[in-house]
Amino acid sequence: MTDSKTANLILPDQELKLPLILGTEGENAVDISHLRDSTGFITLDDGYGNTGSCESAITYIDGEKGILRYRGYPIEQLAEKSDFVETAYLVIYGELPTIDQRTRFSALLTENAAIHERMVYLFESYPRDAHPMALLGAMVNALACYYPHLATNNHNRDIENFDEAAATLISKVRTITAMAYRMSRGLPVIYPKRGLRYCENFMHMLFSEPYDLYDCPPVVAKALNLILLLHADHEQNCSTAAVRMVASSGANLFASAAAGICGLWGPLHGGANMAVIEMLEAIHQEGDDGSRFITEAKAGKRRLMGFGHRVYKNYDPRAKIIGKTCDELLKTLGVSDPLLDIARHLEQAALKDSYFIERKLYPNVDFYSGIIMRAIGIPLNMFTVMFAIGRMPGWVANWREVATTSKPRIYRPRQIYMGKTARDYVAKEDRK
Ligand code: CMC
Repeated sequence: MTDSKTANLILPDQELKLPLILGTEGENAVDISHLRDSTGFITLDDGYGNTGSCESAITYIDGEKGILRYRGYPIEQLAEKSDFVETAYLVIYGELPTIDQRTRFSALLTENAAIHERMVYLFESYPRDAHPMALLGAMVNALACYYPHLATNNHNRDIENFDEAAATLISKVRTITAMAYRMSRGLPVIYPKRGLRYCENFMHMLFSEPYDLYDCPPVVAKALNLILLLHADHEQNCSTAAVRMVASSGANLFASAAAGICGLWGPLHGGANMAVIEMLEAIHQEGDDGSRFITEAKAGKRRLMGFGHRVYKNYDPRAKIIGKTCDELLKTLGVSDPLLDIARHLEQAALKDSYFIERKLYPNVDFYSGIIMRAIGIPLNMFTVMFAIGRMPGWVANWREVATTSKPRIYRPRQIYMGKTARDYVAKEDRK
């Protein structure tokens, strides 16, 4: 919403009135979209910490107060009362589904669970030890080859088939992941089973054998639902911004989601859940209880993975929810994990330490999600893929916002050039 007030910008030789934009939760922004045209100036914001790249109606975060809401609903209420599929519907379509809408959405997920049989050959051609994130990115991009009617690169046409494309992506990403896991271990592929719910079906495809069906304990399905739900969206983070960037060129949903997967892979983003466990294992093997590690982190020699967040500066509400579930799950499953003790010690030590307090560094969602995934049998190299499955509704919803915008405009940031000024070509023999 454009505010009636304006901001005054004073530049060396000119002064400019800039419109103010007010978000529905009172977030303030200065609209600089005509700054360069009017003045020749651009803004510089390394890492985009102060830049709003779009208007969005999907997720609201207040990092100072530790608030996260999907479509207005607090994450705490969704974590307690909803499940991943219902929350995915909410994130994508904007409202909690009616009974009929939920039934239709579930039916679409079931119809679209199996992957094209020829995609199996694609899996065959990758090395057995390929990283699951590399495979996932490749396979999601490849969906455009197998389902071209859902990926025309014409937003108007792609939107006509949006329901099918969204369900295809959300359902198949789980099948692709399970298939990658089975093939990497030389195990027979297990097909999705009609009648099983989203998380139960995923665990079935991962862990059933042709001669022995995996019976997913309710506590495991609940924990998995929670992990996926807590990751469903998180406004303009690195991967989602990548999805919107690619979508803004007119690219289809699968290509845009594949870009999100690549953005998520890095250890500072989705790869952190894997890095947390690697860190805890290293601490355990070194015979440390976490104290030495904290000292080294403060000296800048190591980074406490699973701590800190660009936006949350008091606490990450997702970490609060998941930390509680972690204790309950391990107790119910009768699992005793020394890594949980180290994690608890690290958390307590860091929360009392002035280095972490001054920098407002708190546990984030990934600090405990890895311990839960370990407890339910998900292998370490698949942790980031689990994050990707969870984040898919957010990417789909963000792609849809871009594809349906009334004022389509390609995302194209500027830069401040700091390189050499103009110079003449030097012949090979004259180069020093
Ligand atoms: N351990 C130790 N010091 C840290 C950490 C950490 N995890 N995070 C930040 N700092 C320090 C950093 O060294 C800097 O100190 P100084 O001011 O003395 O130079 C200060 O805190 C500010 O850090 P920053 O890197 O400028 O903060 P950022 O907002 O750019 O980075 C972050 C945010 C999440 C990338 C970072 O905190 C980090 O690397 N955390 C560990 C990785 C991690 O857990 N990532 C998952 C994020 S949650 C899941 C998701 O949504 O992706």
